[in-house]
Amino acid sequence: MEAHLDSTAAGSKRLIEAMRYSFFSGGKRIRPQLVYGAAKTVRDSQAKKQPTTEIMPETYVAAAVEAIHTYSLIHDDLPAMDDDDLRRGKPTCHKAFDEATAILAGDALLNLGFQILIDGIIEFGKPMVRAAQAVGVSTGIGGMVTGQMLDLLGEETEPTLEKVQLIHKNKTGALLHACVLAGGMVAEPNDEQEKALSVFGKSVGLAFQIVDDLLDLEQSTETLGKRAGKDEEQNKMTYPAVMGIDKSYELAGELTQKAEEALKVFGDSGKVLQAIAKLILRRDH
Ligand code: IPE
Ligand code: IPE
Ligand code: MG
Ligand code: MG
Ligand code: MG
Repeated sequence: MEAHLDSTAAGSKRLIEAMRYSFFSGGKRIRPQLVYGAAKTVRDSQAKKQPTTEIMPETYVAAAVEAIHTYSLIHDDLPAMDDDDLRRGKPTCHKAFDEATAILAGDALLNLGFQILIDGIIEFGKPMVRAAQAVGVSTGIGGMVTGQMLDLLGEETEPTLEKVQLIHKNKTGALLHACVLAGGMVAEPNDEQEKALSVFGKSVGLAFQIVDDLLDLEQSTETLGKRAGKDEEQNKMTYPAVMGIDKSYELAGELTQKAEEALKVFGDSGKVLQAIAKLILRRDH
């Protein structure tokens, strides 16, 4: 990340300032944690040594997904989308800079993510190609961007469980699933392990957005670092809107349990991912 930003420093000082502002603004880094956790889980369970190089293949994947995630937040907060003025306890990118700069900073972070993945492919070869493919599929028309479109269209229609599930799986679940899969892929899992990671990733991915919906309702703006109560105000299709608060908690708990069960194939090595699944369920922001 740093190297790329420095190497393009001659380009646009303001753009890089906006990219840094959002990227280094104190996110939870859940997606990189899933990437590192999945790679470690696969290696530990196969009794492979962790790489001794300073930059491991998962380092590229982790940096890339966080850059792409940061872009998605910058665009999500724009007036044309959720119109938010607070993110990670600070003014949103378009408030701190301006709309055009925020759009371009988001564009540049998206491209930076794939640039980093290609750097990883050059360094580590085939396992990284599969990881990059998983990230690519999950962040575009096959996942996040489609989910964001459905989320905006959903503001105008009657909520149903089927619709909210489709929105959440795409806008949020797809990238989290890809983080787990891609992180695992760089450590070359066997088929059974890859399937287990996929079940784990899908389950925690959906649970993550259900909890995000619940936190929007139940937490304070101060704790969240983003404006609370926005979903109801904007008539967003959320799990609590469709099935109520208690049932949503129940479902998030069940999904977490399903995720933990999928880790059984890893034996003791599944502990790291298990801890992340618990964190996703029990976080306060
Ligand atoms: C917020 O993601 C956007 C969603 C997909 C719900 P996070 O809750 O991971 O945000 P940061 O990165 O910690 O700020
Ligand atoms: C955002 O979902 C999903 C993406 C950024 C892809 P939300 O709109 O619920 O996220 P927050 O609540 O603003 O963080
Ligand atoms: Mg949104
Ligand atoms: Mg939003
Ligand atoms: Mg939200």
